[in-house]
Amino acid sequence: QIYIHRPNSDGCNLLVESHYRPFIDAVCQYKDQQWSGSPIVNGESIESGEKVTVTSPQNREHEVGQIYYADEETTRKAIDIAHGAFPNWSRTAVEMRAQALEDYANLLEEHKHELIAICTLEAGKSLQDGIDEVREAVDFCRYYAIEARKLFSYDGPLLGPTGEMNELFVQGKGVFACISPWNFPLAIFTGQIAAALATGNTVIAKPAEQTSLLAYRAVQLMHEAGIPKDVLQFLPGKGAVVGGVLSSDDRISGVCFTGSTVTAKNINRSLAERDGAIATLIAETGGQNAMIIDSTALPEQVMTDVVHSAFTSAGQRCSALRVLYVQEDVAERMLELLEGMMQELHVGDPIERRTDVGPVIDDKAKKKLDDHIAEITETGTLISQAPMSDDAATGSFVRPTAVMIDSIHDLKEEHFGPILHVVKYKASELNQVINDINSTGYGLTLGIHSRNESKAAYIADMVNVGNVYINRNQIGAVVGVQPFGGQGLSGTGPKAGGPHYLHRFITEKARSNNV
Ligand code: SER
Repeated sequence: QIYIHRPNSDGCNLLVESHYRPFIDAVCQYKDQQWSGSPIVNGESIESGEKVTVTSPQNREHEVGQIYYADEETTRKAIDIAHGAFPNWSRTAVEMRAQALEDYANLLEEHKHELIAICTLEAGKSLQDGIDEVREAVDFCRYYAIEARKLFSYDGPLLGPTGEMNELFVQGKGVFACISPWNFPLAIFTGQIAAALATGNTVIAKPAEQTSLLAYRAVQLMHEAGIPKDVLQFLPGKGAVVGGVLSSDDRISGVCFTGSTVTAKNINRSLAERDGAIATLIAETGGQNAMIIDSTALPEQVMTDVVHSAFTSAGQRCSALRVLYVQEDVAERMLELLEGMMQELHVGDPIERRTDVGPVIDDKAKKKLDDHIAEITETGTLISQAPMSDDAATGSFVRPTAVMIDSIHDLKEEHFGPILHVVKYKASELNQVINDINSTGYGLTLGIHSRNESKAAYIADMVNVGNVYINRNQIGAVVGVQPFGGQGLSGTGPKAGGPHYLHRFITEKARSNNV
């Protein structure tokens, strides 16, 4: 059995029975619970309008709960409230804003078992992914609280002639719409909101439709932690309805979005067409992430990192490895190891400890990925497919697949699931490989496995991406350690969990006073 998740986390070592048993029991007590949720405007839950039943990706018979969707009228009301709350919140001391985020982080830890349970049931994420979600959400809150204190601390007067006092102040921009994805339903949802709130903006949070229940629970905890009810509004619902109103309303000063490149461009267009001020767009989007392995790489280490990078979270990470470049001289040994490791993967119920790969988010995603597998295994050569366990028969499971293709250009779009494409290259073709990767226009993550340090440094320099990982896996950026975000078609920057992120949420005022 291969456990591709990190073994030690949050005091819970998922490889040691005495560690994991109490933890899993605590999560499983929520297994049959029903959750409910709705829009929250000015602290009030709006239980009217369209109501949607949420089922589990691993078993569509399993109802997780019910969520009311926001309509256009509720969306406009939420904007009214958030807009009205801005002047006060932006003048609230940064210490109070930071403290509220830290209190929320403590509540996340206190409620971790319930949150992990909702995460596995609603999003189909594995237990380890659930643990990582809570931890990353906590990290975002604590990190941005610290960064906001630094950013808003007054550094004393600037230079100026005698008698003139020059000062620079920072403040929030206004109302931020935070539009988050289903693949990090707690971590990214929390990170966007925490950054906007820490810097004195008010927030309208729009979660992905598929993961609204977890987001609802998070917002309840944020309010409980002391984030004022008029400062944070919550609008679950359809992107076309809620997102449409948000991105066309003049009172929205900024949008923080994680999702597809196409949607980011649509939001950008609609923000630009408004009559109001020029809005900020912070977008983190897709990728066509590659890893380059040369003949000096250590095969056993490489393949562990490859399997981890391609199949953790069922490949549903924007950082995940999609195209593996293997130098021809070592390809046979590398692919033999890859095949062997894939045969050991356990694909099944995400709440089971032994599961390496859970379901994908829904049947629509499954169909798209299955269609791609059918097509690419016709034109390419199948390397390996992981076996499916019996408990993978009921839900939106996709068989982890590795396939040999001729070129990255055979892929017309990002395939957001457990599919690894492998391309062989000759040592003399390295520059062509670099050009091919750059020519996709995406630039999110890049993996390099080489013991030749200068070659690794050369590749890292030449490929246009936001995050490079050398001799390790290429997923799981840690807040404050690997600031995360791409360039080109992969996003606008700045990097989430990095020291410059908060700067995009603020505006500055310089004051010159002839005293
Ligand atoms: N931040 C995630 C990772 O690094 C992707 O969104 O895997």
